[in-house]
Amino acid sequence: MNLKDKVIIVTGGGQGIGRAISHQLAEEGAKVVIADINEVKGQAVARDISRQGYTAMFIKTDVTDEPSTEAMATATVDKYGRIDVLINNAAKFAELGTKPFSQIPVKEWDDVMAVNLKGAWLCCKAVVPYMKKQGGGKIINTSSSAPNTGRPLYLHYVTSKAGIVGLSHGLAREVGEWNINVNAVAYGGITTEIDRKTWNVEQQREAINRQCIKREPVPAEVVGTVKYLASEDSDFLTGQTIYVNGGSYMT
Ligand SMILES: NC(=O)c1ccc[n+]([C@@H]2O[C@H](COP(=O)([O-])OP(=O)(O)OC[C@H]3O[C@@H](n4cnc5c(N)ncnc54)[C@H](O)[C@@H]3O)[C@@H](O)[C@H]2O)c1
Repeated sequence: MNLKDKVIIVTGGGQGIGRAISHQLAEEGAKVVIADINEVKGQAVARDISRQGYTAMFIKTDVTDEPSTEAMATATVDKYGRIDVLINNAAKFAELGTKPFSQIPVKEWDDVMAVNLKGAWLCCKAVVPYMKKQGGGKIINTSSSAPNTGRPLYLHYVTSKAGIVGLSHGLAREVGEWNINVNAVAYGGITTEIDRKTWNVEQQREAINRQCIKREPVPAEVVGTVKYLASEDSDFLTGQTIYVNGGSYMT
């Protein structure tokens, strides 16, 4: 899987899984654009990667805001000349708590949809014109095991991640003729450096018990699949959702 000099945007690259993806893709020789709303964390990731001798830059981006996503795409092309891969990873996730569906405030529902679903769409909208012009590209959207397991007390998040699968399938049909591949990755529970109210030691233990591969997954575990979807090795793969969950459930 050769990612040398591929220009790859990672939304939400400032922490967690996006941070791990950004580091590992840069180590493979990609030029990584960390597009995050959190300036301090996003800058830090870009700086760390650059200090290690790899190529990265930070672009402050709010994926819910169309001009901001357009500026993200333009700044990427201005700096690196093209956009080979968009990884829609940003989400309202770690900060969310669980609550019964009837107690989710409307604003919280709207915020989750705005980042997790509208944000992915807007980023696609911003990069696809460049991908068409250059003759192809790859879009990797981020879903979750939550829609398949019907994780309770998390209805806005579960619904947004189910929407990501539909977005990936429908968009794949619309952009295939320009050699643009659109796929989704659906992770199971993954422990990152960020504490989450919804992920305690007992829940982690239960999740591992459900897996066929009985160990705790760390962000680095998922990057192999992302690398594959970003590379030319997956040129004939589109409109698919790949479940990276240690076999906790099977589709
Ligand atoms: N960690 C898991 O167990 C797990 C499981 C399944 C799916 N996922 C998905 O994987 C992805 C990464 O997960 P994570 O655990 O690293 O999440 P996280 O919540 O730790 O990180 C999300 C990132 O998105 C950024 N972000 C939030 N709003 C934004 C906005 N408006 N514009 C730009 N950036 C914004 C945040 O600043 C942060 O850097 C998410 O899409 C999540 O839903 C995670």
